[in-house]
Amino acid sequence: MHFTVLTLFPDAFRFIEEYSVLGRAIRGGLVSLDTVDIREYATDRHGTADDYQFGGGPGMVMKPDPVFAAVESALAGIPDAERVATPIVLTSPQGDILNQDLVNEFANAPGMILVCGHYAGIDERIREGLITHEVSIGDYVLTGGELAAMVIVDAVSRFVPEVVGSAENVEHDSITSGLLQHPLYTRPAEFRGMPVPEILRSGNHADIERWRRQQSLERTLSLRPDLLETAPLTNSDRVFLASLGWSGVPG
Ligand code: ADE
Repeated sequence: MHFTVLTLFPDAFRFIEEYSVLGRAIRGGLVSLDTVDIREYATDRHGTADDYQFGGGPGMVMKPDPVFAAVESALAGIPDAERVATPIVLTSPQGDILNQDLVNEFANAPGMILVCGHYAGIDERIREGLITHEVSIGDYVLTGGELAAMVIVDAVSRFVPEVVGSAENVEHDSITSGLLQHPLYTRPAEFRGMPVPEILRSGNHADIERWRRQQSLERTLSLRPDLLETAPLTNSDRVFLASLGWSGVPG
């Protein structure tokens, strides 16, 4: 998976380049990350990437010409067959909220181009002429799109085989399976009067699997009942949920 990130602050990405799991994936060649300084594509010698708004108003706007030139240069380096399948993502508080479905969609692409939004916003022609997806990481406003781009790179990279160990890790984690994760315990078997549930120490794998599944279902029902509308549920899941008072979608 290849990420090209267009930013006014390329140094910010040192964090993920060096940070343990992703840094290792990058150094190991499982994921590659190019940061492109948008100012290098500015047409004046000062590297101007922003300008005042037509019509007046507070805040500067990202100019279209450096962003178009930077994206076109990134696209020119991508083989023809992969180019059309490469999402060009703008990070912005106006975008679709990032969720696991969107992460999966991006993870199936050959690579991604991410444009980190800044200032009061971007010239609308960038949105019209370049961007395929506009993505927000939540309903709050950050000082810039860099942290959002890092969140996307991190979440998508987890789906690259070998980045987080076995595929099982990714399949079983919270949300990916459609449900929240069951409780986890490690040693000691009793800590400050809080014992590990006996069943996990029973060695009976079928019972342990059933218990974990039921804990996932119970936790999802209590914390994120909306997930149950789309989670893949078996008949026995539905029977168990009904015993907890769930009156959701029948199978
Ligand atoms: N830029 C500023 N706020 C943002 C947000 N919530 N998500 C993505 N990009 C942003």
